[in-house]
Amino acid sequence: MKKIDISSNINEIKFPLCIMNASGVLCSTERELSNLLDSNSGGVVTKSCTYKPRKGNDLPRYFEWDGGSINSMGLPNFGIKFYLDFLEKKKINKPIFLSISGCSSEENYFLIQKANESSKVTAIELNLSCPNLLEKEDMLGYKFHKFIENIFKFNKKPLGIKFPPYFQDIHIKNVAFILNQFPIFFVTCINSLPNGLFVDIDKESVVIQPKKGFGGIGGSIIKPFALANIHKFYTYLRKDISIIGCGGISSGRDIFEHILCGASVVQIGTQFMKEGISVFERLEKELIFILEKKNYSSLNNFRGKLKNIQ
Ligand code: SIN
Repeated sequence: MKKIDISSNINEIKFPLCIMNASGVLCSTERELSNLLDSNSGGVVTKSCTYKPRKGNDLPRYFEWDGGSINSMGLPNFGIKFYLDFLEKKKINKPIFLSISGCSSEENYFLIQKANESSKVTAIELNLSCPNLLEKEDMLGYKFHKFIENIFKFNKKPLGIKFPPYFQDIHIKNVAFILNQFPIFFVTCINSLPNGLFVDIDKESVVIQPKKGFGGIGGSIIKPFALANIHKFYTYLRKDISIIGCGGISSGRDIFEHILCGASVVQIGTQFMKEGISVFERLEKELIFILEKKNYSSLNNFRGKLKNIQ
């Protein structure tokens, strides 16, 4: 039987397999991060960090149902020093992405500088798309162009940006036009759909406390938006800028769809939260099974090759 290879790469960064966690889910504490390092995920991304530790929003701030999840975590994290110190102590055998999410451009410059000082950080995932910030804290993903130029005046690490979903072709075209001018390694799309609302009919109430119940929506129901953003970015971005697909993956079939639309690596969020660390092994098996059935030997056989109806 043919050997099936589901490794991938983002520029020169090699992933032993194309499946990793999504930032935010079970990647905040030493124990969670150690579990991920020991798991068979293809890479690890940390919880988005800020300069100082943050408590995050009030509880309850996460809720899930069959088709998805809603969260308004508010970036609870232990601060960048905690994550860099943790990585310093660890033996690393796969790509490590440090996710950063400063609440201002200045904070992001500082975090990028700090990440540049660590040899354990393979790449920076700059999260410009947290939907749960306070009003005075900016979500830069909808107006990031002003500060991106400054980053590349000093940054030396591989760097990618995690974006919110865009809903119009012209918005993705414009973002890609800006990104194509810079030495960006990857984009991660998409973060959760901002400003969703889930209703508990029995209690006639919202299900999370912060922001009167409004939060970011993840899980299966957002997959079509993730696929749309991936495929449009794939069309408009320079070919050396890779795409990390995130949104609505709960099976090997979902991963196949993300890669067919142009993703090189995929991240698992809500389903990782629901299923725990064994999710990576299950998804790997399911993806290999699909490739076997289709007689494909690697992701290159179908990445980005989504067909139109003639
Ligand atoms: C949060 O901590 O509020 C979620 C982070 C994110 O979605 O970027």
